Amino acid sequence: MRSILVTGGAGFIGSHTCLELLKNGYYLIVIDSYINSSPKIVQRLNSLFSGSRQSFKEQFKLIKGDIRDKILLESIFKDAINNKMPIEAVIHFAGLKSVEESVFNPSLYWEVNVGGSITLLRIMEQYNCRNIVFSSSATIYNCNCKSPLSEECEIKPINTYGQTKAAVENLLFSLYKNKRMDWRIINLRYFNPVGAHSSGMIGEDPRGEINNLFPYLNRVASGAIKELRIFGNNWPTLDGTGVRDYIHIMDLANAHYLALKYLLKKKNSGFLSLNIGTGKGTSVLELIKTYEEVNSCKIPFIFVDRRPGDVAISFAKNNLATSTLGWKPKRDLSDICRDGWKWEKLNPNGYT
Ligand code: NAD
Ligand code: UD1
Repeated sequence: MRSILVTGGAGFIGSHTCLELLKNGYYLIVIDSYINSSPKIVQRLNSLFSGSRQSFKEQFKLIKGDIRDKILLESIFKDAINNKMPIEAVIHFAGLKSVEESVFNPSLYWEVNVGGSITLLRIMEQYNCRNIVFSSSATIYNCNCKSPLSEECEIKPINTYGQTKAAVENLLFSLYKNKRMDWRIINLRYFNPVGAHSSGMIGEDPRGEINNLFPYLNRVASGAIKELRIFGNNWPTLDGTGVRDYIHIMDLANAHYLALKYLLKKKNSGFLSLNIGTGKGTSVLELIKTYEEVNSCKIPFIFVDRRPGDVAISFAKNNLATSTLGWKPKRDLSDICRDGWKWEKLNPNGYT
């Protein structure tokens, strides 16, 4: 069994990716501080995994800890070697992700997202583990670039969160350039990951104020929030509302599995940045319409002013991920709406 360290694996994208990797026979060591997640994810993954040949315990270990803790990281790598399961690759999700918070507390974002990544990368070097899949974001692209956005678009983030993602990509590139070291690196630049596993047992459990559209939509559908506020109806789009590339969380999880497989097969060093999106733009009104149709419900909404920092249209050119990894999104907007609502219905209070 191949041994993989997953940082931030208890979170939204991390937990779905863990499930995908468990089903594909990897041994996972997860480190998470639970700053934005819950240890209860373990029971959920355990029950989703039951029925497989391997026992869950033999394949999954969750450690509470912070990626900035050098001593803890060292002990994780050392223990893995002592257990004859040296860590072969890292999938690095751990980090903070609120754009708004990053603007108010930039030093925290640089410390966790960049500082934490530096600590992790130094320990990886020390223990000869030089395969990494990094969680990057489409938010790093120049917001004046025209969609579909290709990986060649200018990198010019406008907020601290995006700047920390671009900084880690830059650092990874410097490591790769030092050819004596043989790093194999893939940055996955996610568009808008949404939805949940089709069982409704794992999903997105946002803490504090909700900023993103899909979890907000779920709360309106459940009646917990009265109405959706749509940020602007005068964007230069077909119906005047913002257009984004919504990708089903399990398709995103599958992209991580394929990226990992690709890295582990590769003999030489390499550095790749891949857009992970469907390649299709959907407006806020289109998303609402599909959600209402699929879930037979009504989403009350009002139009309010545009949100500062928003762009009209953002969707991916995803050919590179398709040609390199053989990855293709298999689920559509209806699957997203159905699975996302199922999670909300079954877990109105998230994992608590
Ligand atoms: P999430 O908050 O659900 O998951 C991140 C996990 O990392 C959480 O479980 C959190 O507790 C943990 N964590 C945070 N700081 C940590 C630290 N210092 N040490 C250890 N664990 C820590 O977020 P997510 O949506 O699953 O995102 C995962 C990654 O993908 C993040 O790096 C995020 O920036 C990136 N990303 C997310 C999106 C999105 O829309 N969700 C888009 C682009 C990129
Ligand atoms: C936001 C972040 C982006 C981050 C991404 C994923 C901003 C400016 N951008 O992107 O950096 O990578 O989340 O975490 O915060 N909308 C409403 N009402 C709402 C919420 C959203 O109308 O209550 C609209 C937005 O204007 C947008 C669309 O819905 O047109 C999607 O919004 P959201 O889910 O926040 O994602 P992004 O704007 O793509």
